[in-house]
Amino acid sequence: MGVTIFSPAKINLSLAVTGRRADGFHDLVSVVATLEFGDTLEAWAEAGGPAAHDAGARFRLECDATDVPGDGANLVLRAATLFAAQTGWDGGARFRLTKRIPAGAGLGGGSSNAVAALRALNELSGGRADAAQLAAMAAQLGSDCPLFLQGGPVVMRGRGERIEALPEAAAARLRGRRVLVFKPTFGIATPWAYARLVARGTDYVPAAEAERRLAAWCAGDAPAEDLLANNFEPAAFAKYLALPVLLAALRREFGVAAGMSGSGSACFALLREEQDAAPLVDRIRAAWGPEACVQVTRIASS
Ligand code: C5P
Repeated sequence: MGVTIFSPAKINLSLAVTGRRADGFHDLVSVVATLEFGDTLEAWAEAGGPAAHDAGARFRLECDATDVPGDGANLVLRAATLFAAQTGWDGGARFRLTKRIPAGAGLGGGSSNAVAALRALNELSGGRADAAQLAAMAAQLGSDCPLFLQGGPVVMRGRGERIEALPEAAAARLRGRRVLVFKPTFGIATPWAYARLVARGTDYVPAAEAERRLAAWCAGDAPAEDLLANNFEPAAFAKYLALPVLLAALRREFGVAAGMSGSGSACFALLREEQDAAPLVDRIRAAWGPEACVQVTRIASS
């Protein structure tokens, strides 16, 4: 018996890191949306058997991407081990991960895969975990994991574990929007980006200001374009000049709103419904080369 789970990428339409917490993590206020673009995780139940206590033997992962760890460092296997420990399920599983989301991108690929693994095992085990247990496991696996349990455009707060649906009228302005996602050949490690915020010290957005801005956007009828802001950008742009230069060119030459997702290095542009994406794709490839990852997709509609 097997299950197939779609594991979407996300973009942060807005991201305000508001300050550093006593536990070393950061608080943030972010509007996040999952995309129609993503990975596929397949899982098949296997007997846990005598090897039931050896996670390495119980859960196996095969992946088509060479830059994805296939061992216990992979979030799919970490999620599976946690699921078994938390629910007492003694089965085993074989996973096949088809990767499309690049790593080091700020598109939540690894986090999304971890949540897909939790969902897969919950199905294979006949629903051993309830919604609250799944949420607790997701939060333990990574700050960006809980948002993938909810789906749809959400507001993410705390270190990422407090997820709230956007008010319907606001969510409707995001659902189904065409987006162009593009990532240069280099990635940015999230811990590096947070360390730069700490070192610079000047990029934080006060929580009250972030909440005021979000409430104003939700209450009004401004388009998605007006939401875009990301206070990781100054630190990332100071080092990786290719990012602000291309974003400025796309804004100037095509009149699109564009920004970086999460801690980067992937960026996105909001496309108008009738807009031809091909000239933007050509412009990105001219600047960043043929190896750049470029994807025309949409914000998920559910
Ligand atoms: O939770 P996750 O493993 O994705 O976080 C990776 C690193 O990013 C953390 O170790 C921490 O340094 C930083 N981080 C943070 N505040 C957050 C999320 C991540 O400081 N809200």
